Amino acid sequence: MNCFCWFGGVSLDKTFLDRCSASRRGSMRWTMKESQPGEARVLEDFDVEDGVRPELKSMDAYIPILPYEILAERLGRDPADIVKLDANENSFGPSPAVAKALAEAKYLHIYPDPESVRLREALAEYTSVGMEHILVGAGADELIDLLFRLLITPGQGETVVNFPPTFGMYKFDADVNGAEVVALTRSSKDFSIPIDEVEDLFARASKPPKMLFVTSPNNPDGSSISDEVLKRLLRLPTLVVLDEAYYEFSDDNRITWVKDHNNLVVLRTFSKWAALAGMRVGYGAFPLSIIKHLWKIKQPYNVTVASQIAAEASLGDKGNLLEKVDKLIAQRHEFYHRIKSLDWLTPYPSQSNYVLCRVAGGRTAAGIKKELSDRGILIRYYTSAGLRDCIRISMGTPEDMEKLYAALSDI
Ligand SMILES: Cc1ncc(COP(=O)(O)O)c(C=O)c1O
Repeated sequence: MNCFCWFGGVSLDKTFLDRCSASRRGSMRWTMKESQPGEARVLEDFDVEDGVRPELKSMDAYIPILPYEILAERLGRDPADIVKLDANENSFGPSPAVAKALAEAKYLHIYPDPESVRLREALAEYTSVGMEHILVGAGADELIDLLFRLLITPGQGETVVNFPPTFGMYKFDADVNGAEVVALTRSSKDFSIPIDEVEDLFARASKPPKMLFVTSPNNPDGSSISDEVLKRLLRLPTLVVLDEAYYEFSDDNRITWVKDHNNLVVLRTFSKWAALAGMRVGYGAFPLSIIKHLWKIKQPYNVTVASQIAAEASLGDKGNLLEKVDKLIAQRHEFYHRIKSLDWLTPYPSQSNYVLCRVAGGRTAAGIKKELSDRGILIRYYTSAGLRDCIRISMGTPEDMEKLYAALSDI
């Protein structure tokens, strides 16, 4: 006789449950008995992986930077001896006000404010953009994903424009969300975007790309987009997403443009200037017609209590943090000066907290990365088209930089 159990409100055949649990112990392939007329439908050879979206099955995984402790273990070093200049973090660390505010936090047992009201009020003051335009996310990364989820219908051939070489998450989120990417390569000379090609693409397209991602300063080279080029982009029938993750290190500030352009989004983060990469707090200024829908689709408790407290405390101590930013900019200037003596390393101009350098003179980018990591200094190197032979070095504290210069002259 068949016995039925309730499982999450659904009636399931006992034989089915037994077979499922037996097969869970072995492989994930669940074999079920053949259905008889009048019985619940059963499946032969059900493989849970068959349900995975085909485009995701074939997608390459994003390769993140390894955590500090694991890296240290691999290099056989104490984490304190490692100079980490590979992920554009801020080695000065967060404001002391952050640790103090977190130590005094009272409501860690309560869900966070889903509207991040206090933080958005502080951000409105910091950016001079009304808080009704501002949404906070678990890093700018979350906001990029949310934009895709809002605008892209997966698998419908909808496109977005990307300007490689650039930050990898736009392509990653396009892949995850079933959008096609039109890649218009930046100039190999100065990494500027091919604005004529962009306009041409839109002039020819029967269905214009839904979004266009432009990073300024661009990661990994540090170049900025001019006001004039941004204005040309804003004349196109698309949503322009301007990623200003490194704004504090640059001369530009276009976030207030959102008030006058209903097709512009500007993304920012606390990961770089406020050294809160580990807390995951980013924000964006959005047109009102877009933000009202983002409010509906975001996870209600996307930004933790601790992250909101840390971000608010950082804004409360922005003078101190911006002094550190100035020091990092000064390190950037000094870096150009100091590496002039190395004929095998040519730096690109940067408006950010990192410098991209081309490696020459019979040396390779991978070789330099290895030589530095053998000395406990971590940097990023590239193998992709347009960046072959390039390394990117994040600016660090004066001590970090002295160790870097000593290692570079030693190599
Ligand atoms: C251009 C750019 N945008 C966004 C981010 C990610 O920001 P967050 O840490 O707030 O997710 C990064 C991180 O490296 C970046 O380089």
